[in-house]
Amino acid sequence: MRVFSGIRPTGELHIGNYLGAIKQWIELQKNNECIFCIVDLHAITTPFDPAKLQKNIFEVATAYLAVGLDPEKCIFFIQSQIKEHSELAWLLGTITPLGELQRMTQFKEKAKKHPEYINAGLLNYPLLMAADILLYQTDLVPVGKDQQQHVELTREIARHFNGKFGKVFKEPKVILPKVGEKIMSLQNPKKKMSKTDGDLRGCIDLFDTPEEIQKKIMSAVTDTGKAIIYDPQKKPGISNLLTIYSLFSGKTIKELEKKFKNRGYAELKKSLAVILINSLEPFRRKKKELSFREVYVKEILKKGRGRAETVAQSTMQEVRKRMGLQQ
Ligand code: TYM
Repeated sequence: MRVFSGIRPTGELHIGNYLGAIKQWIELQKNNECIFCIVDLHAITTPFDPAKLQKNIFEVATAYLAVGLDPEKCIFFIQSQIKEHSELAWLLGTITPLGELQRMTQFKEKAKKHPEYINAGLLNYPLLMAADILLYQTDLVPVGKDQQQHVELTREIARHFNGKFGKVFKEPKVILPKVGEKIMSLQNPKKKMSKTDGDLRGCIDLFDTPEEIQKKIMSAVTDTGKAIIYDPQKKPGISNLLTIYSLFSGKTIKELEKKFKNRGYAELKKSLAVILINSLEPFRRKKKELSFREVYVKEILKKGRGRAETVAQSTMQEVRKRMGLQQ
């Protein structure tokens, strides 16, 4: 199967990115043809600093390697380096009703968050994401819950295009993790953990120091009452901590409820901080090593670009032909 997914280079990756998306990628790379993109053109739809963009791109590339994605098994590349992404996004825009873009939850949320920055790129964001996916004849798109709606729209766009111009695109399927599809903010457990629209204390970065992890976990917002039980409606804070604990420790939520029965929130938090510090330590060590190997990382991105470009160009050639555009 061909797998495609991506992450915006908007700063350090957090455990939501890891549990929602990357952890699935690590499994999928074993038996599939995987393509993982650094989507810089998506990153510039919300306020950003041009002086930091290249650094952020490098950070995501080293993060991919540090957490265990293997460049021998998957392709990594930078979205803006393959111009077919923007070209296809434009063409898909000509067959997509405006209402479909306006109804996207993420557009509405981001427009609310940045009322001074509602640019057309933010509205067209799902078209670029559809182009990313469809250019590579993708079968599977492993993402967190917040991206599911965009992948469903991608399927509709593919169906619409194929119906109008003849079959060119595969209809990709979304895959969500069984647990961890939406990790919540530690400061506001009713909102997802996010690097761009949240309180930074609510977000554990993959490469946070042990002190930072400890501080953020100990100050996580909890719920009224004392019982440590999983109930996302009534106890969103504790349920989120239990989910994170379960995913990093390999213990089921039921086992954790038993382990922490009659013990306080502080004990759960202390224990979770230890689990997280130990689980993330190898990532931090690897990332540090890679930060000195810029040439190696850039070489991987260059090789990835070459391999991805061949597929993207071949799809675009077919698209142009079907739409009656010149080759
Ligand atoms: P981005 O950069 O916001 O997030 C990257 C991935 O992390 C997942 N994720 C989460 N999962 C669980 N809990 C959370 N709190 C959490 N926060 C983020 C996201 O669902 C995503 O899988 N538009 C996309 C990037 C993109 C893409 C693509 C993805 C562009 N083109 C094509 C797949 C295929 C985005 O902004 O993700």
